[in-house]
Amino acid sequence: MRSLWFGAALAALLVAGCGEGGKKALTVGFSQIGAESAWRTAETKSIREEAAKRGVDLKFSDAQGDQEKQIAALRSFIAQRVDAIILAPKVEDGWEPVLREAQRARIPVVLVDRGVNVTDDSLYATLIASDFVDEGRRAAEWLVKKMGGKGNIVQLEGTSGSAPANDRKKGFEAVIAKRPEMKIIKSQDGDFARDKGQEVMEAFIRAEGKKIQAVYAHNDDMAIGAIQALDAAGMNPGKDVLVISIDAVRGAFEAMIAGKLNATVECNPLLGPDAFDAVEKVLRGEALPKKMVVKDSFFEQGTAAEDIKTRQY
Ligand code: AHR
Repeated sequence: MRSLWFGAALAALLVAGCGEGGKKALTVGFSQIGAESAWRTAETKSIREEAAKRGVDLKFSDAQGDQEKQIAALRSFIAQRVDAIILAPKVEDGWEPVLREAQRARIPVVLVDRGVNVTDDSLYATLIASDFVDEGRRAAEWLVKKMGGKGNIVQLEGTSGSAPANDRKKGFEAVIAKRPEMKIIKSQDGDFARDKGQEVMEAFIRAEGKKIQAVYAHNDDMAIGAIQALDAAGMNPGKDVLVISIDAVRGAFEAMIAGKLNATVECNPLLGPDAFDAVEKVLRGEALPKKMVVKDSFFEQGTAAEDIKTRQY
């Protein structure tokens, strides 16, 4: 497959020199899932800003949470004969046919943030993403320590079928399964959104009430929604009920400073520089690793007031 992409690269290089300043601007299509969370907005901003910085003509498409719209966007990028495509896929399944179309058109696809299930990994150039299984594991290990190895947890899951929801659940549950006195008493999809996180948490509270001792949310937005539900029920989030989530967006630091969120595992959305480095490399015919893992930190309430000063999103 490298040779096909190299062919496309060569074509791009052959026309280089025709434009102003001797360099032809790259045209890149970016298919984004939507704007369901603060994380997603930060990722979009990072990619847009990096494109502007490098003089890339970015064709941006927001699918508003609809995979079919993402597939249509990819087909439109192919029809426009873009130089490369950046795709943040909503779910893991269902991409093979359209990725084949891109491959036939010799347009390399760089995946950012989430992975896909395909039978042939030559269908994409590389995936730039965090280790979601490890994020779930780290959240669980923190809870094991704080709860002394026993207690009842509820889990707010991300979008069903998405890589982060699948992997964060897997990593978390593998750790908890080794602790017979720790139980996940409820687990449900909150679609990575604040309002849904709140709704699902309200239902958990109606069903389990004071039995709930900890909340694990697959992202900060759902945790913030859950905190609103816990507050409304007089359940003291951050104190009587431990709350941990993933992303480390600004809202999470504000919630930690307010004493309502206990900890957050970072998932870095600033993928623009790496994404365009990958695009440029693949168009030059350079080999790329199949996955590039983004490094993430971990933040707790105690240092949040200091940490927030240097946060970029
Ligand atoms: O795929 C990354 C996840 O998607 C983020 O954790 C979440 O906030 C977003 O919507």
